[in-house]
Amino acid sequence: MKICKASDYKEMSRKAAKIIAAQITMKPDCVLGLATGSTPIGLYKYLVKWYRKGDLDFSEVTTVNLDEYKGLPKTNNQSYDFFMRDNLFDRVNIEASNTYLPDGLAEDSESECERYEKLIRKLGGIDLQLLGMGHNGHIGFNEPGEAFDLATHCVDLQESTIQANKRFFESADDVPKQAYSMGIGTIMKARKVLLVVSGKDKAETLKKALYGPITPKVPASVLQMHPDVTVVADAAAFSQMERG
Ligand code: GLP
Repeated sequence: MKICKASDYKEMSRKAAKIIAAQITMKPDCVLGLATGSTPIGLYKYLVKWYRKGDLDFSEVTTVNLDEYKGLPKTNNQSYDFFMRDNLFDRVNIEASNTYLPDGLAEDSESECERYEKLIRKLGGIDLQLLGMGHNGHIGFNEPGEAFDLATHCVDLQESTIQANKRFFESADDVPKQAYSMGIGTIMKARKVLLVVSGKDKAETLKKALYGPITPKVPASVLQMHPDVTVVADAAAFSQMERG
């Protein structure tokens, strides 16, 4: 595991964006696994900036996103599909047809999960998977307690996740109660993983994820078993691990 310390959110975003840019430069037709949440917003801004400068080309890139709320149409501004178009896809030269997310409106959950998993396989797997981390250690929407070998599945969101995500909705009642998510099994098959973490409120969980026991109680702890993980976090997120 490579640990990359950044002084603050901006530096974390820049360092993480550089890793993604390097991946695109080294393999222009790479498959990127992408993430939503507030943490990656800054790094997407850098990718857009470098694209505008002419330093990055997304024309051959394919993306698969980690997760999507069940029941939200793409047009809903809280859907992850909307988020991705707003923060990245509509701002760079990626082909819309090369960007994939689970379909929140799929009628049959089981076949939607199978479709998504097959799609990732058909694309040849994920070259680089970007991950954020929830306060309870969840990655994607893999909540504490979920088996490590799961493929894409439909998740019942935990109350703490609903509470954490309600800031984006009018009220907690409006937050969908279920979501589609790549499973830990899917994430662990990615050839490289990039985890970004920011803020003091995640410091305790990050310490457990990186140095605690590998346990489904802290889903991100599974990354200790992945052969190629880079963690980019800011000083606040590392604050429980450092002295002085
Ligand atoms: C959501 C997403 C995760 C994300 C997490 C943390 O639950 N499904 O992919 O990592 O939120 O979000 P934030 O970065 O806003 O703290």
